[in-house]
Amino acid sequence: MLKKVIWLFGLSGAGKSTIAQHISQLLSQKNITYVLLDGDEIRNTVNSDLGFSTDDRRENIRRSSEMAKLLSQQGIKCICSFITPTKELRDIVRKRLGNNVILFFIDTPIEECIKRDVKGLYKKAINQEVKNFTGISAAFEQPENENDVVRITTTGKTPDECAKEILDYILNKTCSNL
Ligand code: ADX
Repeated sequence: MLKKVIWLFGLSGAGKSTIAQHISQLLSQKNITYVLLDGDEIRNTVNSDLGFSTDDRRENIRRSSEMAKLLSQQGIKCICSFITPTKELRDIVRKRLGNNVILFFIDTPIEECIKRDVKGLYKKAINQEVKNFTGISAAFEQPENENDVVRITTTGKTPDECAKEILDYILNKTCSNL
């Protein structure tokens, strides 16, 4: 069976949202609908009361994984893109979604994220104008001992190529009966 929830995690600027959009488009060409739950959008709306402390990130991920669970229980599949920076937070996702989720680590080196700096946030974080910034002044734990995580390296690839790699994985490894 196709997983009900595809959870992309990785640094800010790693390409999660763009790759999520490409996956959604590629799947819709196969008449498979996945809706997007994106960290930036969720934080600008339902989770606008939350910041980036450890407790607030935990609450952000708890609420977001609950939303994905509620939607998926009603037949609406989701692609979630959140930094989800620590094993503790990824365990919250695992606990809520169990066998219904597959986690992909969008692995873009921090040097590359700093170089791209699409939102200008890394510059601000380095200048200490933004506090608790993941990878600069807040932890990002690499998923070293998390055997269920699929690592997607992005260096030298386009977002579309990364999305196709993920699609291949989910269609071939978890969807033998499609
Ligand atoms: S998470 O850590 O709680 O999973 P989430 O994915 O929802 O984070 O939100 C991350 C987005 O918030 C980033 O892509 C960035 O645009 C924005 N942001 C603003 N401040 C911070 C910060 N201190 N650390 C990380 N991201 C931040």
